[in-house]
Formats: sequence, structure tokens, C-alpha cells
Amino acid sequence: MTNTEQQIKELGNQAKGELAAAQDAHSLEAWRVLYIGRSGQVTAILRGVKNLSEEEKRIVGKEANALRRELEELYQEKQERLHNKISGDRSKILPPPLTPPRAGGENAAGSLHPLPLSMNRIIEIFSAMGFIIADGPEVEEGKYNFDALNIPLDHPARGEGDTFMIDPKSIGGEKDIVLRTQTSPMQIRSVQTMHLNPPFKLIAPGRVFRREKADATHESTFYQFEGLGISEDMSIADFKDIVAEFFSEFFQKDVDVRLRPSYFPFVEPGFEVDMSCVFCRAENALSEHGESKGVGCRICKYTGWIEVMGAGMVHPNVLKNMNIDPKKYQGFAFGGAIDRLTMIQYGITDIRMFWSGDIRFLKQFS
Ligand code: PHE
Repeated sequence: MTNTEQQIKELGNQAKGELAAAQDAHSLEAWRVLYIGRSGQVTAILRGVKNLSEEEKRIVGKEANALRRELEELYQEKQERLHNKISGDRSKILPPPLTPPRAGGENAAGSLHPLPLSMNRIIEIFSAMGFIIADGPEVEEGKYNFDALNIPLDHPARGEGDTFMIDPKSIGGEKDIVLRTQTSPMQIRSVQTMHLNPPFKLIAPGRVFRREKADATHESTFYQFEGLGISEDMSIADFKDIVAEFFSEFFQKDVDVRLRPSYFPFVEPGFEVDMSCVFCRAENALSEHGESKGVGCRICKYTGWIEVMGAGMVHPNVLKNMNIDPKKYQGFAFGGAIDRLTMIQYGITDIRMFWSGDIRFLKQFS
């Protein structure tokens, strides 16, 4: 082996060693310039070949050319590997590329969840009847959720067993704060914050929370809609007409309503509201006296009636807390569960489906 052949071999080993050490595009480029660039060392040897003897020209030319080809190939490989490494790293921090739309209109469009669908319907129907819409906080002061609603301090619903309490220290205060257990605090809150003066009618739909174990008909989180209507002469008959019209619109059936005496601290008198069963009774003519002809089905438990909300005439103490004179004004309040109406409307038998995220369930409403 001639000296030059030896030099080429050593240069090759050195170049390969340095190439292996190059870890980024910058050092790779420096390497390229040093060895195989226009003024690189391997290029210089090739340039010098023409000055060699015929014998050396043949051997050195062959060796140097082989080395240049080898180094160029190794360079290409390394460049690709570095590039893939960079894009590999980048794929970890960037979102995956968007999938192009499929042809043929097969794309699933998003749709509203059944609960907001119902909530929108409720808002629409009451708006058409002249109600204003109020919105308020889910994290509420005990003052609005209980006290201002005439709920005594020793009422069982105020306990930790039924209510999610917020630790006052966690919000840096002394206040009694809870996750609202009902939308009824919106009765007083909306009158105060919206500076309402009678006559007015409002509804306040929203989420409520109860410390309850979930089963087919109970959830710790659900939706209610609160109604409030105050004027000088607002009567129970007015209330009954309004809710009958609401349920008839909501279910698109001719719905009848009946009131049963009940107790809520913030109304007097208080009642449970039943609507005629939209599955059986509404389909059948009533007798001349307005009674059902003994029809019934599984949904109404063969009674012809379905319990749909709590209601009553606003208690004078609550009117006072609204700064409304109970001697001059009177009115109704009601509260119903949106989940329950939605279950009745679509025949949903388990309330837990609403929070299941089950795509097969949700697709039925698109
Ligand atoms: N807030 C009551 C409940 O959650 C319902 C209700 C509202 C009753 C308004 C009377 C008047 O059960």
C-alpha cells in the first residue's frame, strides 16, 4: 500500500468516526464541508490526482472516488436519520395531522345533547308566553339557597347529607357556600340582580347538585327550570293555565294538569303538579266530566297522571326577601326537572345515560 493509499484509508476512518458523532443538522453540515464539500479533504485528494504518475493516478483515483461515494452515501443516510428524529420529536408536541374528510358525505356532524335540546325548547316556549330568562350561579350562597327561601336552619335538606358544602376556607371567607340544590335561589337572586318590579314572569333553567347516590332515576347532578310570576292578582288558576299550555307545547299533545297539596317552605299553599299521561290518557277522549276512562300504561303506572313539578303561591316571607310588598302583590313559583321531562319525552329509562357519554345513546338525538 502506497503512502497516499494509507492516507486515504486514515482519512476515511476519521471522516466516518466524526460522521457518527454528528448529532444535529449543524454539525452534519460542518462535516460535509470538511470532507466532501467543494474544498473538502476528499475533494482535494481527487483534485490532486491529475498531478500524480500514471500508476498512482489509477490506484489513488480509484480509492479516493470509492471513498467519496461511500462518504456521500453515509452522509445521505445520516441526513435522513436526523430529519426523521426531528419530525419524530415534533410529533410528540404537535397535534396529529387532521384526517381529511371522507368522500360520500359519511362524516358524522356533531349534535346537541338531549338536555340542552330540552332546555332550548323550554326557553322557547316560555319566551313565547312572555317570560324573561334568568341565569345564575351554580355555586351559591346558603343565604339564597336556603335562608331567603324561608327554609329553617334545622331543615333536613340543609345538612351535609343532602348538600355539597364548599369549605369557606377554600374561598378565603366566612360565607356559607353550597352547590345549589335547586334553582329556587334564582327567585330572589334574579329579582334583586335584574331589579324587577311586578308584574313580571321569569324562568331560570340551570344545573343543580344533590348529594345522592345515582340510580336509574336519581343523579347527583341534574337540571331544573324555575318559574316565577308576580303581579297584583296572579292566581293559582293563571298558574294552572300557563303550565298546561307549556306541557301541551312541550309534548305536542293536549295535556291536562292537576294540583295535589304538598309542602315547600317557600310557598303557601304548595302543590305537586301532575300532567295527564302523554302516552295513554292524552290519546283517549276524557269523559264528559273530564275524568279519564280508566286508561293507563306503564309510564304513568296505570294512573293516567305523571308527576312533573313542585309549585305553589310564593310565601309572603319570600316576597319580602325580594323587596316586594306581600300586601300588594302575589304570584306563583314552580320548579321542574329538565332531565325528567326529557326522559318522558324520549322514553329514556335510566337517567345515568345523560352522563354516560355513550355515542350510541347520543346519536339518537342528532
Ligand atoms: N325547589 C323545589 C324542588 O327542588 C321545587 C319547587 C320550586 C317547589 C318552586 C315549589 C316552588 O323540589
